Amino acid sequence: MNQKKKSENKSKTYTLFDNENGLSYELPLINGTVGPDVLDISNLYKDSGLFTYDPGFTSTASCNSKITYIDGEKGILRHRGYDIKELCENSNFMEVCYLLLHGDLPSSEDYKKFTNLISKHTMINEQLRNLYGGFRRNAHPMAIMVGVVGALSAFYHDSTDINDPNQRMIASHRLIAKMPTIGAMAYKYSIGQPYIYPKNDLSYSENFLHMMFAVPSEKFIVNKTLSNALDKFFILHADHEQNASTSTVRLAGSSNANPFACIAAGIASLWGPAHGGANEAVINMLTEINSKDRISEYILKSKDKDDPFRLMGFGHRVYKNYDPRASVMKNTAHEVLNELGIKNDPLLDIALELEKIALNDEYFIEKKLYPNVDFYSGIILKAINFPTNMFTVLFAIGRTSGWISQWKEMIEDPVQKIGRPRQLYIGNEYRKYKPQEKREKISIFKKLWFK
Ligand code: CMC
Repeated sequence: MNQKKKSENKSKTYTLFDNENGLSYELPLINGTVGPDVLDISNLYKDSGLFTYDPGFTSTASCNSKITYIDGEKGILRHRGYDIKELCENSNFMEVCYLLLHGDLPSSEDYKKFTNLISKHTMINEQLRNLYGGFRRNAHPMAIMVGVVGALSAFYHDSTDINDPNQRMIASHRLIAKMPTIGAMAYKYSIGQPYIYPKNDLSYSENFLHMMFAVPSEKFIVNKTLSNALDKFFILHADHEQNASTSTVRLAGSSNANPFACIAAGIASLWGPAHGGANEAVINMLTEINSKDRISEYILKSKDKDDPFRLMGFGHRVYKNYDPRASVMKNTAHEVLNELGIKNDPLLDIALELEKIALNDEYFIEKKLYPNVDFYSGIILKAINFPTNMFTVLFAIGRTSGWISQWKEMIEDPVQKIGRPRQLYIGNEYRKYKPQEKREKISIFKKLWFK
């Protein structure tokens, strides 16, 4: 819908009729800049005693936001108005972080100040190193991320007062700066190598590669093609409006919890295979498929309603068209494999064939299931040598800029309230308490539960 048509809608309302009781309720329509209008139901319960029911929030706008715009039908993703492809082609991750946080691209002077500020926060308190030792060596790095990022709240008390705009900004800088350090330390801990301190003369992505793969005994030279690919990966994962983890960050923050705890909550939500965990799941799936001959078997499995298997890296709640991030990832995958001299990557071959078959399959066409950002990203990360269990950590590093920008926007929103959804209660009505000896003697306990 164009801008002109939008303003024509200005004072439109919808009317909800309760025919049985002869009542009606006016629901004002609110216009966004672009994209669907929303019905304002905030007074509905007060006026009618009714709630709305929308499991998974498929038709619910939980907030207003100026940060990210998605048109899922057309496959459009924009941050602060800038198209994701243009950002990937021309910008870098630090610029995008600034854009998300501050609303505009930085001048060259502000860019220098911002990158300098971020680089001054890359180290973590030495005491935090002890926390790693409390984890098993084979702990999933996302488990460590949840713990260590949450623990930042216990170390940086000078940036946890959410009512102070300066403290909010310092916490934002700290989180963006420290995430790569925390993630790389989780990896080094798992393989028993010494932690590598950040190097502030390197770019954000170069520094992360250095902390991941350098060892103190050898010189480490960062490969620019790989650091550029990683930078694109971070840009593509920076923000994606009100997805599960971002909504988790906002909901946690709506109670005025401190920003480090809120981001830890976001990391927990991201970990699931339906969300950020999908990039790891894609590589596991491609490895399991193992040969092009077995693709049709897996396509069949994914269509079988009695089988919980889904084609990982396919489908999206919002995109009903090719995910614009997936096409950038696909091109970048080719660049990375070329740079590394990998002529035939068996997983990429299976992925390309799988994509071709799925995109021509009636089931996938009808349900508008296309490859999403996670479908090709794992191939890039694997080629760079990241272990699969680090993939979602990389997603979390990129997404932190979006989480913290959305958190800040929420705190600064004058209509912000504690998030408190209601429910459709379908349980028992009132029952009188019975003493144990008067209850039925049926045990619900299964042998399997006792370990
Ligand atoms: N393979 C096979 N069938 C699928 C798939 C898939 N990957 N995704 C959705 N469907 C089917 C689903 O069974 C349902 O069929 P029906 O209408 O007959 O019941 C229909 O498509 C709609 O699916 P849905 O589960 O109602 O859609 P949703 O919006 O709730 O779920 C999703 C979106 C991303 C969780 C889902 O597509 C999925 O599980 N995909 C695989 C996991 C994945 O790749 N996740 C990464 C998402 S992108 C990164 C991020 O932002 O986190």
